[in-house]
Amino acid sequence: SMPSLLPVKDDIATIAEFLLEATNYRPSILVVCGSGLGSLSKCLENTVTIHYDDIPKFPKSTVAGHAGELVFGEIQGVQVVCMRGRFHTYEGHDIRTTTLPIRVMCMIGVKFLIVTNAAGALNDSYNVGDVMIMADHLNMPGLAGKHPLVGPNDDRFGERFTPLSDAYDVKLQNLAWRMAKQHDMTDKVRRNGVYCFVSGPTYETPTECRLLRLVGGDSVGMSTVPEVIVARHCGMKTLGLSLITNKVVMPGSQRTAIPASHQEVLDAALATQAQLEEYVRDLMIAIGTE
Ligand code: ADE
Repeated sequence: SMPSLLPVKDDIATIAEFLLEATNYRPSILVVCGSGLGSLSKCLENTVTIHYDDIPKFPKSTVAGHAGELVFGEIQGVQVVCMRGRFHTYEGHDIRTTTLPIRVMCMIGVKFLIVTNAAGALNDSYNVGDVMIMADHLNMPGLAGKHPLVGPNDDRFGERFTPLSDAYDVKLQNLAWRMAKQHDMTDKVRRNGVYCFVSGPTYETPTECRLLRLVGGDSVGMSTVPEVIVARHCGMKTLGLSLITNKVVMPGSQRTAIPASHQEVLDAALATQAQLEEYVRDLMIAIGTE
């Protein structure tokens, strides 16, 4: 059931009420568009776009490749809201701020989160352009206490202690794999991936990459995990997709490898965009009509 907007009227409730007034859409799915993946909203019809700047109390997004707007719309009767642009701790946002939109969407009734990101490949068998279905994560800042659920528990959303053994919904992972087969993408969609969350804004050193790979990491990035945690806290079912935009530089290969750059990330996202748009569109339809 939808958490009550009253009696607490904090920023989350203020924003939720604003959005319920601003549109008649009542989406069941939230799609968070990662770096260079804003075009995932393109398949939506009858769209209502709301810029973050025009939403009272909404955080401000500062990264190139992130538009900073919500796009509400529908596809085959399924109502969806896309976040084109997300918030990262490396921008200076408090970690709770980076996850505030998730709670807002929970309040307006969203039940499913499709979260995407651009990530570096730790797994040596991955190629640039691959799409990794997240099966688990490693929360490096979280293990050290930089975690979005630290502080008094907000009982409107969930309980004090949240299990994460089922953070990535197995049914949704299987659906994403079936969809990969339907789209002839089995050569580039990777199952059972482990995403490592690091704070950034620097890319990892070779030794840091070795550390993450040693514990089973397949991809590495600077987002997603705080959002997934807060989504799980409030009971949303989550599907995570990493677009591999670069291969990390491991110890010993610094002399020949190309250092990671934001331009490289955006270029790789652009190259895979069209195929990914169709893939995620069909995932939205399948999830929304289940
Ligand atoms: N985003 C894209 N590539 C990345 C990398 N190598 N490390 C962290 N975040 C990234």
